Amino acid sequence: MKNPSDSSGISFTALYTGAVWHQNGLSDDSLATSQGRWLYHLMTPFEAASQLIAGGNLRTFLLQRHLIIDHLIERAIKEQGIDQVLEIACGMSPRGLRLRQHHPTLHVVEADLPDMAARKALRLMATNRLGQHHQVTPIDILAETGEYTLEAVVERVLDPGKPFIVITEGLTSYFPLKVIDGFWQRLGKVMAKQPGSIYLSESYLMPQQPLIRGGLKASASLLGRMTRSQVSFHFEDDEQAREHLENQGFPEVRVHNPADFYDLLPIPRSRQDPFVRVIEARS
Ligand SMILES: C[S@@+](CC[C@H](N)C(=O)[O-])C[C@H]1O[C@@H](n2cnc3c(N)ncnc32)[C@H](O)[C@@H]1O
Repeated sequence: MKNPSDSSGISFTALYTGAVWHQNGLSDDSLATSQGRWLYHLMTPFEAASQLIAGGNLRTFLLQRHLIIDHLIERAIKEQGIDQVLEIACGMSPRGLRLRQHHPTLHVVEADLPDMAARKALRLMATNRLGQHHQVTPIDILAETGEYTLEAVVERVLDPGKPFIVITEGLTSYFPLKVIDGFWQRLGKVMAKQPGSIYLSESYLMPQQPLIRGGLKASASLLGRMTRSQVSFHFEDDEQAREHLENQGFPEVRVHNPADFYDLLPIPRSRQDPFVRVIEARS
């Protein structure tokens, strides 16, 4: 990353993930972009090759992580009655729209770097989706002062008297562990003020199989160059991930393996142990 506090090079990847959600019937036409469609077609041969060789591809784990996070949000709303959600690094994710459709009284705030937040807000405004209970706001998880900091956004958009759900999907692996630790520690402190709050995210474990490991490292390094970031695999296994998150200030952490949801959710299956995990951390 040229300037360690500028991560805007990552933003275009949201167009690809946005296209994956759209192609799989999870999104809305208002969030489909022409660049996303182009990237989707460009990636198709690579995705097919990876499926053949490794028994899974980018689209497999994107859908696994996305639908498991959705499932855990639904559970928290139904079982705990949580009624406010902050989705950081929302990109073109349709989650906010879907949540608002299913839960009309839910307070949903989507947040991203200023340019991406403006882009998302324009698209949602054009179809009359925004209002008091569905907002888009700028944030920069690396900011340490000013109105874009995590602390300022939480204070501005959430009700301080009630627990909330925070999501980061497709964000943390673009940063080395020591950088994202800073964000996690700050989030842990913010959530500690509201016991019962939940943080949902995903992480990628380095596979043991040497061929897949090598291929993955090469793809991560290419993605890092394209996004001017340091794409990182933070953990070797579930236990290490759990312990690490606990040490950042989340007293209760669960690490979910997509394989445990194969019979419950309409998610694609990986041929081997999936290498994505969904993290559920509670205050
Ligand atoms: C891979 S996309 C994921 C988008 C969306 N969550 C999804 O899964 O479709 C990564 C997102 O992170 C956002 N991002 C990058 N750096 C950020 C930062 N410092 N603070 C907040 N968001 C950031 C990008 O703008 C982009 O929308």
